[in-house]
Amino acid sequence: MSDKLAAWNVQEADFPFTGNMFEQMKGLLRYAVLAPSGPNTQPWKFSIKGNEVSLIADFSRSLPSVDPTDRTLYISHGCLLTNLLLAAEHFGFGYDVKCLPDGLSGERTASVLFSKKAAPPRFPDLFHEITKRHTNRKRFEKRPIEDEKLKKLKDCANKDGFMLDIITSNEGKAQMADLLARAHKVQLANKAFRKELASWIRPNTSDAKDGLPGYSFGYSDFESYFGSFIFGTFDMSSSRASIETAYMKDSPAVAILSCESEDKLTWIKTGVLFETLFLTATQLDVRFDLFSQPIAIPELRAEMAKISRYKFPQILIRMGYAEPAMHTPRRPVEEVLVA
Ligand SMILES: Cc1cc2nc3c(=O)[nH]c(=O)nc-3n(C[C@H](O)[C@H](O)[C@H](O)COP(=O)(O)O)c2cc1C
Repeated sequence: MSDKLAAWNVQEADFPFTGNMFEQMKGLLRYAVLAPSGPNTQPWKFSIKGNEVSLIADFSRSLPSVDPTDRTLYISHGCLLTNLLLAAEHFGFGYDVKCLPDGLSGERTASVLFSKKAAPPRFPDLFHEITKRHTNRKRFEKRPIEDEKLKKLKDCANKDGFMLDIITSNEGKAQMADLLARAHKVQLANKAFRKELASWIRPNTSDAKDGLPGYSFGYSDFESYFGSFIFGTFDMSSSRASIETAYMKDSPAVAILSCESEDKLTWIKTGVLFETLFLTATQLDVRFDLFSQPIAIPELRAEMAKISRYKFPQILIRMGYAEPAMHTPRRPVEEVLVA
């Protein structure tokens, strides 16, 4: 496995069962860093003090044009937290979580106090899905997702002020594809936006342990050399947008995850729930492709809010069946650990 993908090769047997607390906390963080983040910026750092692990926002990796409020940054921290706690439950640790322990202006998004005494699990058993989960941008098979699986996904999401609206009608999917097309049009006309996104697209052969290699979009090694150019250029990126909208209309289901409030804490909670949902889908062999674009544009978000049952749509999901896609790179724990 190439170095940039090595983080995915984490093995249960390598957990430092007999190591000290620091080594064990590091062992848990190896699962946290596999969390998703838009466009794989991995906007996080960690500190370990005694038995306390802090998740710290790395604002040097935030996206002022694409994500001006840091909404997706906080969501990705929620995803981190889910992976960390799932690993803790799996390896028999108890924990106590505080979100935003230093208040709204602090850089710490969460602190987790671990104990060696296992407590009853608060999550479903999704630990083994962490290394399998991935975003899948392929064309999905047309076959519908079974009702039983859709129900499981809704049951996982519809709680604590969150709602997953799953759309399977052709009319509804076309409406979402139209929203996505309009979002692309607005954003791709914005040069700063295109430049920022393009700066995270990498050639397939790049050694970078962050960002999106061209293969994530189905580009060959040769095409991937121009991936950044493609995303930075209006005409080319608009052709990428038309592929995405066509795939959306063709997919068996599209879903909106929404909630009732909008603040930093809600975004972290969105991430916690979203990662649980993503891992549940992985367990069911259902693939997810994610779209933040329409949510970043207030008028389009308001249109989505009329379709979703709750007021604040947080993520648009295309779902269906496809062969697994390749993982994206990750920075190892050692590179994101601060004193
Ligand atoms: C909050 C959030 C928003 C995202 N938005 C998008 C998006 O708009 N478009 C996209 O292609 N991927 C989006 N993604 C997926 C990320 O690009 C993906 O998680 C990242 O590249 C890591 O890849 P992985 O999920 O396969 O591990 C989003 C992910 C998160 C957590």
